[in-house]
Amino acid sequence: LRVGVLCGGPSGERAVSLLSAEAVLSALRSNGIAAVSIDIEPARLQQQLQDAQIDFAFNVCHGAIGEDGLLQAVLETLHIPYTGSGVLSSALAMDKWRSKQIWKAAGLPVTQGVLLRPGESLHELDRSWGWPLYVKPNHGGSSLGVSRVNGPEALDIALAQAFALEDEVLCEAGVIGHEATVGIVEGRALPPIVIETSHAFYDYDAKYLADDTRYLLPSGLGAVKDAELQELALKAFAELGGRDWGRVDFMISQSGNIHILEINSVPGMTSHSLVPMAAKAVGMSFPELCETILRTAQR
Ligand code: DAL
Ligand code: MG
Repeated sequence: LRVGVLCGGPSGERAVSLLSAEAVLSALRSNGIAAVSIDIEPARLQQQLQDAQIDFAFNVCHGAIGEDGLLQAVLETLHIPYTGSGVLSSALAMDKWRSKQIWKAAGLPVTQGVLLRPGESLHELDRSWGWPLYVKPNHGGSSLGVSRVNGPEALDIALAQAFALEDEVLCEAGVIGHEATVGIVEGRALPPIVIETSHAFYDYDAKYLADDTRYLLPSGLGAVKDAELQELALKAFAELGGRDWGRVDFMISQSGNIHILEINSVPGMTSHSLVPMAAKAVGMSFPELCETILRTAQR
């Protein structure tokens, strides 16, 4: 049995992916599994995967190519079993706006949003949400290019920053409250984690660099709210056709209303990432978590 840990690639989350791969590789090896890492190069991906002669792919590519269905499609054509969601649900999960439409249609709670293309601006009606609002590249990850906009004077620069990364930009009504996240492994929801940051929001620096970001686990929300979050996470995941593992991000308003933000179909797997943190809370070590995720690819 030879496992390829797929990582890197050209996305803005490349550096995070390399860290995830390092952690997963050493965990798999500590479990006695023959694992190699493959830093994916889109132009010669098929050749790379064939040359490596792997039986299974453990995918920890975050963002474009690796998390958006493209890599999954290549793996399908080569008949290489892989961890995580399939082609369509990966593509949907990477698309915040279209995920929102599906959840809305299913009656799940989401924030109001508008999708903008270059040259379009926020309509007055849309701005009746008030401030703050969030501006996000529609297919982004790790909060790259995301801004919290506290008033009209900051909107143009936020839009320019997001449009610099892609041609679809999502504007969302801001929820004042807490960010929370629920990991899913083997189709089961892990305990929710509430995130507290000293930054304006849980941005790239707060995620990977700051040492004052606080992760509350237990969440402090109480058993009822925890269960509600877990149930919503599983529903949101199922609505997009998610498979095996992932992570669902939420905002909870001060009055306790839950809003689904997005799904990460290849969540961070560095040793201090959120899914490993939640797994540990239910007694699953990092190597056990990696082995469990790998097992789901072996069906
Ligand atoms: N997109 C990053 C890797 C995460 O969701 O953990
Ligand atoms: Mg994400």
